[in-house]
Amino acid sequence: MDTILIIDDEKNYLLVLEALLVDSGYEVITSDSASKALEIAATHDLDLVITDMKMPGMDGMEFLAQLRSREPDLPVIMMTAYATVEKAVEAMKRGAFDYITKPFKNEELKLTIRKAIEMHRLMQENRLLSEQLQERFQFGNIVGKSKAMRNVYEVIEKVAQTRASVLITGESGTGKELIAKAIHFNSPRRDKRFISVSCSALPESLLESELFGHERGAFTGAVTQRKGRFELAHGGTLFLDEVGEMSPALQVKLLRVLQEMRFERVGGNVTLQVDARLVAASNRDLHREVEIGRFREDLYYRLKVVQIKVPPLRERRDDIPLLVHHFLEKVAEANGMEVKGVSQDALKHMYQYDWVGNVRELENVIERAVILCDGDEIRPQDLPEELFQTRLPDISEKTTASESNSDLAEDDGLLPYFGLNKRQVKAINFIKKNGYITNDYYIKINQISDRHARRDLSELVNMDLVARIGKGRSTRYVLK
Ligand SMILES: Nc1ncnc2c1ncn2[C@@H]1O[C@H](COP(=O)(O)OP(=O)(O)OP(=O)(O)O)[C@@H](O)[C@H]1O
Ligand SMILES: [Mg+2]
Repeated sequence: MDTILIIDDEKNYLLVLEALLVDSGYEVITSDSASKALEIAATHDLDLVITDMKMPGMDGMEFLAQLRSREPDLPVIMMTAYATVEKAVEAMKRGAFDYITKPFKNEELKLTIRKAIEMHRLMQENRLLSEQLQERFQFGNIVGKSKAMRNVYEVIEKVAQTRASVLITGESGTGKELIAKAIHFNSPRRDKRFISVSCSALPESLLESELFGHERGAFTGAVTQRKGRFELAHGGTLFLDEVGEMSPALQVKLLRVLQEMRFERVGGNVTLQVDARLVAASNRDLHREVEIGRFREDLYYRLKVVQIKVPPLRERRDDIPLLVHHFLEKVAEANGMEVKGVSQDALKHMYQYDWVGNVRELENVIERAVILCDGDEIRPQDLPEELFQTRLPDISEKTTASESNSDLAEDDGLLPYFGLNKRQVKAINFIKKNGYITNDYYIKINQISDRHARRDLSELVNMDLVARIGKGRSTRYVLK
């Protein structure tokens, strides 16, 4: 059970907060002064501190400074009145985890608390990893210990023993190819070849001969006979990357081959029979491609006898510290350097960033940081600017800052938009401020259901006010 210490000179307030947080399953200790709170902190194992800013005697700032010198990692949330938001920002610069403006909604407080406790856990884990005490969570070359990744390991293990076709889907850079290799190298076919073909790299006719081979003279330029990838993968695994990019004509041919495992080389008349295990990957939502008629349904079902969906990194942030340490070691080894660590501050930024390029982007960031870094630890200044810029404000910041309690920021001159509901106007304003909005943010700022949010956003697209970028959960909406 997580233990929270709350400090406020208003005793009634303490009672209310205590009741709320006890109800949410936390163990709560309260204190009506900062000096008493320091004593409590010295004698208890705390997971989080929530303190008022303005108190007689020692105030929240002074308390923060003293606590940080003794317990540098213990997260502190500052409670503040709207008028002192600037001080709260100052407090964050000095190491407070977050601030929340009074009066706040219960849900808002609970969310801020959950995030702080989660972050605290990660910080502790980072220390352990730096000290090399943690056992590794790895499957082949795949690193990750989140629930999502452990599920992936389980599926790989089971499916590797069979010859079932596997379809791996996920955003770019989530590790689909790594998973395909793990399936091959854990299967009885591991001593045979793993052959990879990217269906997006070649035009249709070349892709066909790449896959099935060609006879000499089959087409202009076919000066020699050539074996196709299917043949080369005989006994092993054929990895069809970006399978969603395949043309309809090739989809038909592929389907036939998959059904019978027989084919002819382009321009040839001898039927060849192969035994290749098929693993396909796509960063498109193939189910959706089927619905809109771009991908054959029969082929889709043939490919996805087993499907592995790899979640984007921002949905399994738990894996970030491990991945960071993994890449630090990898880069150090490749360059004959000492392994560096990562400062808590730098990790915090990496943890909060959205990683549109997923693990690949993280790997690149670490590689660059190791090169730039002078000391033995990666610090925020070694990280690229995006990590500080693109993070969208979270709910607490949003409701506490300019939009405070008025339910709409209609007064900042961003209207008029006729025919829009209030939520949509709010979303447009949000995009103007932050560059884009996602379905999740839409749900959060408007407190409505997923279905409702989708409908509202689709309306905005149909009205030609916003454009949709990306697919699936990573979809972003920008102004047109
Ligand atoms: N879980 C992981 N553990 C360690 N390294 C990873 C992991 N996921 C991805 N990587 C690394 O990130 C990079 C991108 O991975 P990979 O090429 O497998 O992604 P992908 O999903 O195939 O991307 P794309 O759709 O763009 O082809 C590789 O260098 C890979 O080694
Ligand atoms: Mg790939």
